[in-house]
Amino acid sequence: MSTTASAPGKVYLFGEHAVVYGEPAVPCAIERRASVTVEAREDDRLRVSADDLSLDGFTVEYSGSSDERPDVDVPTPLIEAAFGYVDAAVEQARDAADAPEAGFNVEIESDIPLGAGLGSSAAVAVAGIAAATTELGCDLDAREVAERAYQVEYDVQAGQASRADTFCSAMGGAVRVEGGDCRTLDTPDLPFVVGYDGTSHDTGELVSGVRALKEEYDFADDTVAAIGDLVRQGEDALTDGDLAELGRLMNFNHGLLAALGVSGRSLDNMVWAARDGGALGAKLTGAGGGGCIVALDDENGTKTALSLTPDCTRAFRAELAQNGVRVE
Ligand code: PMV
Repeated sequence: MSTTASAPGKVYLFGEHAVVYGEPAVPCAIERRASVTVEAREDDRLRVSADDLSLDGFTVEYSGSSDERPDVDVPTPLIEAAFGYVDAAVEQARDAADAPEAGFNVEIESDIPLGAGLGSSAAVAVAGIAAATTELGCDLDAREVAERAYQVEYDVQAGQASRADTFCSAMGGAVRVEGGDCRTLDTPDLPFVVGYDGTSHDTGELVSGVRALKEEYDFADDTVAAIGDLVRQGEDALTDGDLAELGRLMNFNHGLLAALGVSGRSLDNMVWAARDGGALGAKLTGAGGGGCIVALDDENGTKTALSLTPDCTRAFRAELAQNGVRVE
């Protein structure tokens, strides 16, 4: 017997980075999912294989309880990240099901690029916990899965994490997260277009950079607070279904993130290409540095403009995912 669960990735409409310091953020789940299949083993080991994580597929077997690390020919930080999340998700499932010795064969499939701002790690953590707890006969509701997946991110990212990604992936739709206060939101249809530069970032490092700026400059602290104000303003625009205002605020949010040092040349180039292509607004999504931008456009201009931009390796429409975590 085996159990498969899936969970969506996300884009940030507003509020990444500032959410780490207790300001509100609005991430939105998108129809790109990570799927985790687990099969209980007789022993306490983990065998993990992964496909389509924007890196070559790999399969390794190791003991979850030792420092043993896989010997594979792909960039170490990405492998360590992927393994860290799977390890920690299995640990949460063992704890929830009170089965500390449980071992699993784990198979991950994902069409969410890794470390690109689309919440791949949160989706893997959420789907992994749901699959492993279900396999062990323990049913958690989506909020419990979200809380445990947050613990996974918190542990793997050494405390540099908010509840935004994991709550959004577990619940689906658009959500609002402010510290421990996590809610789902009713929103109009949001015509997201994503541009991806083909690179990945280290979320922990980017979060540390913003923290250092905040400590050094009061105006960096004010910039983070301004993002919070912008998000509160954006909530009214969401309620009113005012896409033009949402777009303006996304542009403003990108500028504030750039001021905090987390944009990059390819992200800026894609943001400008999207705007030139007719987007109502465009911003980086997630930690920044490199990875993805998100734009708002219900016509085809943005996607076309992004596809013609040398910095953009992939441009796609991203439907809002109404379903969060789901046991298949
Ligand atoms: O790039 P991602 O998907 O890891 O998103 C990071 C979002 C941050 O706000 C920068 C950190 C967090 O945990 O909220």
